[in-house]
Amino acid sequence: MASKSFTLLTVIVLINIFNCFAEENYVEDDQTMKIDLYQRSPTEENGSVSGSKDPNGSISILDYMNQEFYGKISIGRPGQTLNVVFDTTWIYTWVLSSKCSSIYNIGCYFHNKYNHDKSSDYKPDGRKFFVNLGIYNLTGFYSYDNISVSQYNVSNFSFIEITEVPKSFIINKADGVVGLGQKASNYDPLFYALSRQGKVRNSLFSIYFNRNYGSYKRGSIMLGYIDRNLTRSRKINGTKVYDEILYLPAPGLSYWQLHMDQIVMVHNSTRNSTFCAKGCNAVLYSSSSTITGPAKEVAQIHKFINAEKFLMDRYSVDCKKVDSLPAIHFRVRNKTFTLTGPKYVTKISYKFGTLCLTAFQEADTSTWFLGGAFLSEAYTIYDVAQRRIGLVNAA
Ligand SMILES: *[C@@H]1O[C@H](CO)[C@@H](O)[C@H](O)[C@H]1NC(C)=O
Ligand SMILES: *[C@@H]1O[C@H](CO)[C@@H](O)[C@H](O)[C@H]1NC(C)=O
Ligand SMILES: *[C@@H]1O[C@H](CO)[C@@H](O)[C@H](O)[C@H]1NC(C)=O
Ligand SMILES: *[C@@H]1O[C@H](CO)[C@@H](O)[C@H](O)[C@H]1NC(C)=O
Ligand SMILES: *[C@@H]1O[C@H](CO)[C@@H](O)[C@H](O)[C@H]1NC(C)=O
Ligand SMILES: *[C@@H]1O[C@H](CO)[C@@H](O)[C@H](O)[C@H]1NC(C)=O
Ligand SMILES: *[C@@H]1O[C@H](CO)[C@@H](O)[C@H](O)[C@H]1NC(C)=O
Ligand SMILES: *[C@@H]1O[C@H](CO)[C@@H](O)[C@H](O)[C@H]1NC(C)=O
Ligand SMILES: *[C@@H]1O[C@H](CO)[C@@H](O)[C@H](O)[C@H]1NC(C)=O
Ligand SMILES: *[C@@H]1O[C@H](CO)[C@@H](O)[C@H](O)[C@H]1NC(C)=O
Ligand SMILES: *[C@@H]1O[C@H](CO)[C@@H](O)[C@H](O)[C@H]1NC(C)=O
Repeated sequence: MASKSFTLLTVIVLINIFNCFAEENYVEDDQTMKIDLYQRSPTEENGSVSGSKDPNGSISILDYMNQEFYGKISIGRPGQTLNVVFDTTWIYTWVLSSKCSSIYNIGCYFHNKYNHDKSSDYKPDGRKFFVNLGIYNLTGFYSYDNISVSQYNVSNFSFIEITEVPKSFIINKADGVVGLGQKASNYDPLFYALSRQGKVRNSLFSIYFNRNYGSYKRGSIMLGYIDRNLTRSRKINGTKVYDEILYLPAPGLSYWQLHMDQIVMVHNSTRNSTFCAKGCNAVLYSSSSTITGPAKEVAQIHKFINAEKFLMDRYSVDCKKVDSLPAIHFRVRNKTFTLTGPKYVTKISYKFGTLCLTAFQEADTSTWFLGGAFLSEAYTIYDVAQRRIGLVNAA
């Protein structure tokens, strides 16, 4: 599943490449989107590896072209900083290796690469790594090194150095992926290693995405705590009262899945359309910006909002109608997460106009995959110790 968000990005980049023939590297006036295809400016990157202004134990989630959410980690001594996608549907941590030759593997070009020869803490492992993700294969080998995430250092962490990636990887901002899934094998995902080494206060982490779609900083991951300031609250007689957190059991899978009761589109006071009518499985998908669901149901949603096929698996709507699109309510027990038109449509401004892409994507699946569009409404808690998921409306 980790692969999905990368293909999405391809679409957006195609648009941009098309759009950028004349000018390779320009910044949109209103800052809604920054195109930075061939140049990685270090000054834009107010990262969150130790030493930054982020609060203790929190990682900033940065946004690359509205499609790829990434943060920063540092590996080795002296630390080598890499951009990584934090993916709740995947368990392994992998980064591009300096052994990935940019000549034979164009996908490794323009990326930061981890060079174990330059780290005094590196320990070889020797095991090879290979996984077939359908769309592409990932090939590499395991290594050990110390790794820093937020203000925490993990010693002797087992991760994968990738030596072969698909060509399309050239356009990704990320140099790797940190799996935030649930431990499902001998492999210790990063958070489990942090927790086992006693670095975090509680054996849980939580994720917040802000709704500021145009901004570079899109949210944060809280390691070991819940930031109540980022969840919804009311003032009752002058006292701040936070919404209750709903906890649901998380089945022992390598990802975080919950039971959704219903998805309702409200057309007007007399007409609703219900999806996932008998309840359905929903997977929290932190590395994607979209909401992917069963092809038939998503096609109906697109029909109701008059969306048209744009490119690959993306649909667009008339930008003038975004504000009047029907709201869509996601119901989990007694919680409702409401997405209005502007929340499930992303406006992408480019030189010759504006494009309005919906967050919804059709897939051959009965499960829904809830990415950024949903996570901007729901503050999510991943309770590793108690194998449960917490949900509460985001602030
Ligand atoms: C990064 O930080 C500098 C200085 O604090 C600030 O001027 C700049 O706007 C920040 N850049 C981004 C993209 O947040
Ligand atoms: C961050 O947390 C670590 C470990 O709990 C602690 O040693 C350190 O002093 C904290 N730093 C700040 C700036 O609060
Ligand atoms: C973590 O590791 C980095 C890089 O080796 C080092 O600069 C930093 O001081 C370490 N931090 C702690 C809290 O040990
Ligand atoms: C992935 O590897 C398998 C062999 O294990 C091969 O059959 C397949 O063609 C590869 N897929 C891609 C996209 O390269
Ligand atoms: C890094 O790893 C080495 C050996 O693996 C260990 O002795 C050292 O304490 C670690 N450093 C930090 C900052 O965790
Ligand atoms: C690192 O971890 C591996 C596996 O957990 C272990 O076999 C190895 O001895 C450890 N190395 C150090 C230096 O702690
Ligand atoms: C929440 O906000 C209050 C008041 O603005 C502040 O004092 C507190 O430190 C914040 N808590 C966290 C966890 O950031
Ligand atoms: C708020 O204060 C009023 C007057 O003191 C009281 O009647 C009311 O019950 C309070 N409401 C709540 C929710 O506590
Ligand atoms: C409600 O929406 C449905 C479907 O879009 C439409 O057929 C119906 O006329 C609308 N009713 C009102 C009162 O607007
Ligand atoms: C449609 O759904 C909304 C929101 O859940 C609800 O308030 C309303 O009663 C429903 N209307 C109909 C006609 O079912
Ligand atoms: C919501 O459900 C939870 C348990 O499922 C319950 O503890 C809580 O009281 C409910 N809250 C409301 C406002 O009904």
